[in-house]
Amino acid sequence: MSDKATLEINGEKYEFPLITGSENEVAIDVKALRGATGGVITIDPGYKNTGSCESAITFLDGEKGILRYRGYSIEELAEKADFLEVAYLLIFGELPNQEELDKFHEDIKSHAIVDDDIKKILDAFPKSAHPMGVLASLTSALTAFNPTSVDVNSDEDMYNAIVRILGKFPVLVAWAMRKKHGLPLDYGDNSLGYVENVLKMMFKNPTSDYEQNPILVNALDKLLILHADHEQNCSTSTVRITGSSHAGLFVSLAAGISALWGPLHGGANQAVLEMLEAIREDGGDTKKYMAKAKDKSDPFRLMGFGHRVYKNFDPRAKIIKVAADEVLGDLGVEDPILDIAKGLEKEALEDQYFVDRKLYPNVDFYSGIIYRAMGIPTEMFTVMFALGRLPGWIAQWREMRLRKEPIGRPRQLYTGETYRPFKSIDKR
Ligand code: CMC
Repeated sequence: MSDKATLEINGEKYEFPLITGSENEVAIDVKALRGATGGVITIDPGYKNTGSCESAITFLDGEKGILRYRGYSIEELAEKADFLEVAYLLIFGELPNQEELDKFHEDIKSHAIVDDDIKKILDAFPKSAHPMGVLASLTSALTAFNPTSVDVNSDEDMYNAIVRILGKFPVLVAWAMRKKHGLPLDYGDNSLGYVENVLKMMFKNPTSDYEQNPILVNALDKLLILHADHEQNCSTSTVRITGSSHAGLFVSLAAGISALWGPLHGGANQAVLEMLEAIREDGGDTKKYMAKAKDKSDPFRLMGFGHRVYKNFDPRAKIIKVAADEVLGDLGVEDPILDIAKGLEKEALEDQYFVDRKLYPNVDFYSGIIYRAMGIPTEMFTVMFALGRLPGWIAQWREMRLRKEPIGRPRQLYTGETYRPFKSIDKR
């Protein structure tokens, strides 16, 4: 294969290098395009064909349904690793040995307290506030109580910022939920594992001890691993582009949380459950909702279906579907919504509209059913996604800064008015 791409504009030929990734993906390097052509740019709304960076963190093949973190398959990681090991792997590039993992956890625990004044900020939110908005605000507010900038040239500075946010974030997650439910705001328990501690902080009742349920711990561990990174998705790109202006880590993460909130991205897990609930309340007629999803005059979409990159099964959805059956079985929960979801999936996979467009269930289709069985309120689902995605955002932010990427600043094709003289107000 040639190592160059040729572009012809108005009879003039330009050559651009082809670059190849470690899995043989090919990209045309158009860095020199504007300069060489005297101002021509590419346009690609939604960046469907545009690589924003080179990255060594996550590999995804949407046609084959492959997802790997640092070379390790998502299937193996979900089965054999725990969330903190995966976080370490994503951020630092290698699986930790026991000593490294223990130190990482100790360092995170030593930062597992947020300034108590954060409670005052939380107090000012109405109970009706969506926890994603609260989480984004509090994450941003952390900058007011902690060093705001990180010297990215100092490994120590970088490491400290990372363990600090990994320690404090679960506290904010738990508080965002407890505030909504009128429960006292408490801190965690350093004798526990990372995921066990998250569950205790979320669910501990003020009048009784919290008993760990290994089924819940395993289920959450797996869900967090499955959400931990997904290369250059909307929220991750937001984190990278925010950080590219050299804004600090915490505010870059806060920007990512806001991007994740939308129903086309992480907010889909809440939207899926609300959709399934609506179908159930409407008598369980899945065919009616299939027809709505296919009707171009109806804005309704089958939430939890389709993906920008996967044109095959989302490998995370496969794992989560099996996990949903296991967790509900282990917990002895019978949820009619699981049957509706399975019915909808079956119909969609056999439907020509979905087949033609290669629309498969994505990670969000079954995750909400597990969260619900675990007792996690619906409006917290996207917050749980954010907790899982945190190491991925951190890893991507770190990579972007270490690679000294330039500030993110796309071009545009202007389609507005050309010059026109100013019209005084009496002439308009
Ligand atoms: N239901 C019905 N039709 C759909 C759906 C859906 N869920 N998703 C895509 N389509 C149709 C769409 O109408 C279009 O049809 P046509 O070619 O006739 O105009 C075609 O499929 C391609 O869709 P698109 O919107 O151009 O694809 P995209 O890559 O821009 O969007 C998506 C990807 C995930 C935003 C979209 O599939 C969607 O809105 N899905 C529902 C929301 C959802 O589940 N989001 C979670 C994504 S996975 C987790 C995450 O990213 O956080």
